[in-house]
Amino acid sequence: MSFRPTLPLHKKSSTAWLARQSRDPFVKARLSSPSSYRSRSAFKLIELDDKWGRFLSCPSVRSVVDLGAAPGGWSQVVAERLGWTFDAEDNVEEFGLREEAKVQKRGSWSTELENKSTGRGKIVALDLLPIVPMLGVQTLQMDFLAPGSARVIRDALKSPQNPEGTADVVLSDMAANFSGNKIRDTQSSLDICHAVFDFAKGALTARQVDERGKVLRGGGILLLKHFAHPSLQEFRKECLESNFHLVHYIKPESSRSDSAEGYWLCRGWLGRA
Ligand SMILES: C[S@@+](CC[C@H](N)C(=O)[O-])C[C@H]1O[C@@H](n2cnc3c(N)ncnc32)[C@H](O)[C@@H]1O
Repeated sequence: MSFRPTLPLHKKSSTAWLARQSRDPFVKARLSSPSSYRSRSAFKLIELDDKWGRFLSCPSVRSVVDLGAAPGGWSQVVAERLGWTFDAEDNVEEFGLREEAKVQKRGSWSTELENKSTGRGKIVALDLLPIVPMLGVQTLQMDFLAPGSARVIRDALKSPQNPEGTADVVLSDMAANFSGNKIRDTQSSLDICHAVFDFAKGALTARQVDERGKVLRGGGILLLKHFAHPSLQEFRKECLESNFHLVHYIKPESSRSDSAEGYWLCRGWLGRA
């Protein structure tokens, strides 16, 4: 996991951790930002979206799913780009000590926040951990890998404009907690990729092209975090490249160079699978 906003327990590692935090330009930016993002990861999404055509700001993007969303940095970025404004007051404290009292119950939705302003479309954010409510985002506290999670997410996306509960964008920054067993950890990262792909194939809006090849609709986007695994290239080829118009591998500058994480940005869901 790239950023855990809690202090480590061991003295030696906490000294190293604090030293690294104090040097990290993205942590400094996070703490000095007027909007005070909840996570360092928020800068990865900002960087990715800015470099790759600001797809989140595209007016046709009206339904977004954020998987593995706690504490909520990515969701804040999505909400901003879909025209929702958020208030720093709604954020977790510095270094993310969670305000448990403000946490939403599973599947609840703050109508008080919703009524403050209107943005574009729907954002559904899911995590095992609680997420402090934020404007424009419906949070779900549940295990994405549990049976039935896809149905719950699709139901949350539904609206009169989107009766099927489809998604224009699926984001996954999900990372299983490291168990220390390298084989198991490597496998869980690929299991997450497969589960996200299975969800995306049922939920994403499909690319539409007319008989002359003119693109009528760009097709859904999947941004997927992954970690090193021997079968990664096979997964990319079989699942991603054969089902999306374009697939790019991205290692954002804001992603620590010593982290094995990378992202795939997959654009133009072809709707064949
Ligand atoms: C790197 S953090 C995400 C940070 C987030 N993008 C942000 O900007 O605040 C990864 C998250 O994945 C979540 N996660 C891991 N396995 C999960 C699962 N099976 N279901 C739901 N969430 C999961 C973890 O609880 C953790 O909060």
